[in-house]
Amino acid sequence: MSVSTTASNSINFPGSITERLQVQHLLEPTQKVSTIAGSDVIRGLTQTPKTLPFKYLYDDRGSELFEQICELPEYYPTRTETKILQKSSHEIAEITGTGELVELGSGSSTKTRILLDAYQDLGYTLHYLPIDVSAGILEISAKQLLLDYPSLEVRALVGTYERALSHLQPTKLPTRTIAFIGSSLGNMNPQECDRFFAKITDALQPGEYFLLGIDLQKPKDILEAAYDDSQGVTAAFNLNMLEHLNRRFEGNFDTNQFSHWAFYNEVEQRIEMHLKSAIAQTVELKSLNLQVDFTAQETIRTEISRKFDLDTIQQNLKAYGLIPQQVWTDENQWFGLILSRLF
Ligand code: AVI
Repeated sequence: MSVSTTASNSINFPGSITERLQVQHLLEPTQKVSTIAGSDVIRGLTQTPKTLPFKYLYDDRGSELFEQICELPEYYPTRTETKILQKSSHEIAEITGTGELVELGSGSSTKTRILLDAYQDLGYTLHYLPIDVSAGILEISAKQLLLDYPSLEVRALVGTYERALSHLQPTKLPTRTIAFIGSSLGNMNPQECDRFFAKITDALQPGEYFLLGIDLQKPKDILEAAYDDSQGVTAAFNLNMLEHLNRRFEGNFDTNQFSHWAFYNEVEQRIEMHLKSAIAQTVELKSLNLQVDFTAQETIRTEISRKFDLDTIQQNLKAYGLIPQQVWTDENQWFGLILSRLF
């Protein structure tokens, strides 16, 4: 692990951007993969049906493509959540008060600005802790935020949610809010979701907050269009995972021999994203000492995106002591935002 930090100055007299920015790398900076890191790929590709962890969608290119997905006409979640945040941000800031905002999977922090504006309007001191696996996007967006918010202090953590949550120091401000917006919870299966909620409660003190954005159930045609857009950006995002694996594990996936496939699984209430092999082929990942055989039309499931029911998710949160304080949604009830407090 390498840690690069710059000294943080006082809350009341913020200085230059470098003085107000700390970046801590919780990942190996070279992205060189240890045996442990590659074991999830070996496990996924040697089981039937084949799967790969969705985290491999997000190298720097994948994060860029995801930003493009968020702008697509078919991809309603970002737009809808943004509208909800616009109407609820002042209420959120009023409920939580002055504090530290931790954001999991912050990406370019676009939606965060809506919250930061609300805290700034109310004159609240705010420390922002964005957490993301993509160092590139994290650092660029942190610097831009510091330019735009002169009294903001940013401590960016480059790493996975799990690692970052267990690295959180107690805040010096009166409260902490952990924000997990963008419906990334949907990319976890129910067991992972349970472990994640347990991590959140460990990272919070009683009285602190958890802001959760979730995509809700809706007609299948709307869902499927959102994950198979007409411009092919989601397809490029999915296929980029193979390029990422090639680079990380000395692989020889030929992206021309795989195609993007996404559908809504009504039983599991989730979108499934797969990569389908056009032909029977063998792919090698040299550094993992792995050869993988594919039959024609065989798929690798690369992502699930669960669609939630507002009542059920609130019950789940309550089971972890996270008591919903306020729930916001849009006029179609397509997306939900829940502010909970740990009791
Ligand atoms: C990041 N996550 C919430 C997105 C989703 O909708 O599940 C990832 C995504 N995959 C394809 N399009 C967007």
